Amino acid sequence: MSLLEMREIVKEFPGVKALDGVSFTLGAGEFHSLVGENGAGKSTLMKVLSGVYPHGSYEGDILIDNTVRSFRGIRDSEAAGVSIIFQELSLVKELTVGENIFLGKEPSRFGVINWTELYHKASHLLRDLNLDIDPRVIVGNLGIGQQQLVEIAKALSKDARILVLDEPTAALTESEVETLFTILEKLKSRGVGMIYISHKLDEVFRMSDRISVLRDGRTVGTHSAAELTKDKVIAAMVGREVGDIFPKPEHEFGETALDVRGLNVYSIDRPDKALVENVSFAVRKGEVLGIAGLMGAGRSELLMAIFGAWKGKFSREISVDGSIAAISSPADAIAHGIGFVTEDRKRFGLILEQTILDNMTLAGLKSISGRYVCNRTRESIAAAGPMKSLRIKANSPLTIAGTLSGGNQQKVVLGKWLLTHPKILFLDEPTRGIDVGAKQEIYAEINRLAKEGMAIVLVSSELPEVLGLSDRVMVLHEGRVTGEFTRSEATPEKVMAAATGSY
Ligand SMILES: Nc1ncnc2c1ncn2[C@@H]1O[C@H](COP(=O)(O)OP(=O)(O)OP(=O)(O)O)[C@@H](O)[C@H]1O
Ligand SMILES: [Mg+2]
Repeated sequence: MSLLEMREIVKEFPGVKALDGVSFTLGAGEFHSLVGENGAGKSTLMKVLSGVYPHGSYEGDILIDNTVRSFRGIRDSEAAGVSIIFQELSLVKELTVGENIFLGKEPSRFGVINWTELYHKASHLLRDLNLDIDPRVIVGNLGIGQQQLVEIAKALSKDARILVLDEPTAALTESEVETLFTILEKLKSRGVGMIYISHKLDEVFRMSDRISVLRDGRTVGTHSAAELTKDKVIAAMVGREVGDIFPKPEHEFGETALDVRGLNVYSIDRPDKALVENVSFAVRKGEVLGIAGLMGAGRSELLMAIFGAWKGKFSREISVDGSIAAISSPADAIAHGIGFVTEDRKRFGLILEQTILDNMTLAGLKSISGRYVCNRTRESIAAAGPMKSLRIKANSPLTIAGTLSGGNQQKVVLGKWLLTHPKILFLDEPTRGIDVGAKQEIYAEINRLAKEGMAIVLVSSELPEVLGLSDRVMVLHEGRVTGEFTRSEATPEKVMAAATGSY
């Protein structure tokens, strides 16, 4: 007897069969992972389960406790015990943490919201999860990792029996991931069934009882985790063996492309608090500089301040190609030939309502820079090129970006900057949410660009990625440089020691 049974689910969008007869079951207290390439249909299946796509908009049946359910919306699925943490954050940025957690179910008396009780309950919940977040803070002022944790707290506030986690750890620090898994263990022992979606196979193997692999809207297989290995799962996902994903072609470095002196970045809320302190570095043409560090070390703030996108106070001196560059806004940065693939694709990277073509071309750039910075016509830019080289899964360049799978959205952001041919490219977590096969493509692209002379600054929380791609690694700890290693010197042990401040 199972808690949940999804039978032969078919879901079509205009021109796309996202799910083509997928069946899936979940038992009470079971941890069942769902893996597959970008666009395989994982998030769509979960949106069917949670009523985002209501009964009637798909074929097949959903049974909970052996009873067929026909959800008209999220409220119905929640009432049946389903709670989902979406891949794309769905918090209201303008509201406080507490308001977000209790949105739509605020404690009230005689129709008046009881704020004291709301914040009391919210802080209790956050404390119970060991989360050090003030419930009165506006969500938009939190970093993306903390927002993700609020999302998790919100889902848990609903006493779910079936908890869906779609890429929940993408923005979490290692200790936050530990916190999450402690919570999940607790829920499992209470009999909550969990569906776990992740491209991080270490996490998938950590707690899974069973693993299901989806490919192109179909189930490739469901197996007990004990029968599987990472390699077997990857081969099933991609449909082929994936070999060494970090080929490192030798190439020459040129002149210094970017030189940054005395960079200081201050907190937006507390302008006296330095997030980055007195950092100086240079990157040469053809060089990949990796910036390693734990979440919160100041890596994204560093890139944003150089790019002129940091909302708080900052100071630094920048030279591009040997001359002083005055950069006080992203438009200035772009005009100096700097491109930036940001970690939060919704905030700076992607306009969800627009087409892939618009996002990749002038319109997309204009939305960031506030003015047109290159004069090639839209028609002359073949978005089809990067669509193909990055394997963006979509019918045409005119597909609306918001309808792409999470990983494919990230590829559009990358493709946009590649089309502008920047001299200097900042990559902040470029492969977050990207499947293994596509990662390989992106790594090859980064190597190719460096070989052509682009200077690249790479921030990534995945240590193998930083070590595999970088010619040089600079390590930040609490906003200061605590280590710098050449490619041959950089070992995981040394970099981690520097990242934790104990080198
Ligand atoms: N609202 C929509 N309109 C049109 N097509 C859609 C829509 N949502 C999803 N799709 C398409 O359905 C397919 C499956 O997408 P889905 O988001 O389920 O993939 P996924 O497995 O979650 O991928 P990822 O790992 O990148 O998150 C993709 O081809 C996607 O473009
Ligand atoms: Mg998805």
